[in-house]
Amino acid sequence: MRTDIINYLEKEIYKRANEPSNKFGIGCYYHIEAVVKNAQILAQKFGADEEIVIISAWLHDIASITDYSLYEMHHIHGANIAENILKQFNYEEEKINKVKECILNHRGSVNNTKLTIEEKCVADADAISHFDSIPSLLYLAYVNKHMNIEEGRNFVVEKLKRSYNKLSDASKEFYKDKYDNVMSLL
Ligand SMILES: [Fe+2]
Ligand SMILES: [Fe+2]
Repeated sequence: MRTDIINYLEKEIYKRANEPSNKFGIGCYYHIEAVVKNAQILAQKFGADEEIVIISAWLHDIASITDYSLYEMHHIHGANIAENILKQFNYEEEKINKVKECILNHRGSVNNTKLTIEEKCVADADAISHFDSIPSLLYLAYVNKHMNIEEGRNFVVEKLKRSYNKLSDASKEFYKDKYDNVMSLL
């Protein structure tokens, strides 16, 4: 396991998330951290290459937090930024290409059965990560969007349903209890 790269990425992502140029705020860091955690769990569960999955998870939204103008195409820009960083660590080209694919395909292409198991782990971890940040979603609804109690509840429920429905079938099964628990609270 390339812990040198992983430790660097953890610090670098935290640093970039804290910069004033990151329009999404520090909440991004906690999102990315949750994606890494879930991606690692899924990699172990489904027998994916853990190193590829963890590195990809740290890097999957790096373009968005680095420069807001890259947000719309952040999967493409992110793959390029990742390549530059990983080359500096002399990471093997074949592995760099796998990481780039995970970043390129992390957005809602989960139902594409052509995805590799590593790509599925990162995409599914991205979708399920919302279930680890319910307070942030409530804050978004009630504070940022000034919703009333019922509107806020519906906003969060619908967002979570969409995220859950993006999961691959295997991950839906794996996270079913988490889904049911969160929904019963809301
Ligand atoms: Fe993303
Ligand atoms: Fe993400």
